Amino acid sequence: MLQVDRVEVRFGGVQALKGVTLDVPEGAVVGLIGPNGAGKTTLFNVITGLERPSAGRVLLSGEDVTGLAPHLRARKGLGRTFQRIEVFSSLTVHENVLAAAEARRSWSRDDADPGRTASDLLERVGLLEIEHERVDRLPTGLLRLVEVARALASQPRLLLLDEPGSGLDTTESEALGDLLVELVADGSRSILLVEHDVELVMRVSSHLHVLDFGAIIASGAPEQVQQDPAVQAAYLGTSAA
Ligand SMILES: Nc1ncnc2c1ncn2[C@@H]1O[C@H](COP(=O)(O)OP(=O)(O)OP(=O)(O)O)[C@@H](O)[C@H]1O
Ligand SMILES: [Mg+2]
Repeated sequence: MLQVDRVEVRFGGVQALKGVTLDVPEGAVVGLIGPNGAGKTTLFNVITGLERPSAGRVLLSGEDVTGLAPHLRARKGLGRTFQRIEVFSSLTVHENVLAAAEARRSWSRDDADPGRTASDLLERVGLLEIEHERVDRLPTGLLRLVEVARALASQPRLLLLDEPGSGLDTTESEALGDLLVELVADGSRSILLVEHDVELVMRVSSHLHVLDFGAIIASGAPEQVQQDPAVQAAYLGTSAA
């Protein structure tokens, strides 16, 4: 579904990504973890086209999209949510999702009713009861679900979630985990999940990649990665080397 091939990003004196290579298979939740400032959001920005890498490539279903604008990547099946929540604050929950469903209808051949689509998605993420509330009255945990529903409205085949569990209580976080597993269950989409909630990411991911200071220091099955000395060192703040 996704291949990231030797991607490099530099911000002035900071090398934010150093030769990052990873992939996400079809129908899987893949976790991307690492300490603060490791480069996770920067990598999401490279994958979605908001940040241009100085070297390396991004391939979606085998097609090189490195030079493609973000909205064109969205049409190729890429969706995302944001670490710093980005919602249309004066609109209702339903209108936020409707905006994305209408945008999709404007470029796709899908003639499903956008209002119906928005309500179906809100039911799926558990927000149907509050669909007519303005989003600026909602707590963070619910806003994260609004963003997930809005991202789903473009019918992504790869969904990038940047800390969807942040601001969620235990019950909400468990429900989010169940939702992520359900979303990939039919094999038609994949999720790349950036998440600091280790319990959540371990439970739902079939594979993990660990970033530290812009480099991938470990990749593999969750249990295996958790035992990796370099990963433990990175999280304890000591040098992985
Ligand atoms: N636009 C920018 N200009 C300059 N430096 C940046 C920019 N964006 C990110 N950085 C730097 O690049 C590095 C990686 O940042 P990034 O936000 O990708 O990390 P992260 O893994 O998402 O961290 P967190 O877990 O805190 O969200 C950090 O050193 C950060 O300060
Ligand atoms: Mg980040």
